[in-house]
Amino acid sequence: MNRNLTAVLGTIAVVLITLPSTTWAADAAAGKTVFEANCASCHGTSGKGDGPVGSALNPAPRDFTVGDFAFDADGNGTKGEDGDIKLVIQRGAMAYGGSALMAPWPTLNEEQVDDIVAYIRSLKE
Ligand code: HEC
Repeated sequence: MNRNLTAVLGTIAVVLITLPSTTWAADAAAGKTVFEANCASCHGTSGKGDGPVGSALNPAPRDFTVGDFAFDADGNGTKGEDGDIKLVIQRGAMAYGGSALMAPWPTLNEEQVDDIVAYIRSLKE
């Protein structure tokens, strides 16, 4: 194998090893920005469910500092997994027997939803 080809293959290997952590890992800090823009009016900036709109709602928006979740959205027998939370955000709580006030968010892409889930997880006290 010639030396240049070895160097190129080496570079590709490094890129492949580095990509997953930089491109695909959920980013709670990015999630915080999206959360504050779209979710905090109900869930509150601290995630306690006490935003200006949320305080008036029944049922109340989930308090993320408690870390308890209601829906087993993927139907695998365990509620509140990352996948369940993701589905509730993407399709709304009503799709899983919950409140229509927790509306679906089809405008958020997969990466944004993963980031929000990471942020929600970080709020548990
Ligand atoms: C209009 C108010 C409102 C907004 C805006 C809102 N939510 Fe909610 N959310 C609710 C309510 C109300 C519930 C409780 C639903 C229920 O118990 O049936 C809830 C519940 C949830 C749950 C709990 C799911 C579970 O299994 O317990 C998650 C996660 C969630 N919201 C995420 C979000 C995210 C992320 C956003 C922003 C992209 C958002 N919400 C925006 C009102 C809102």
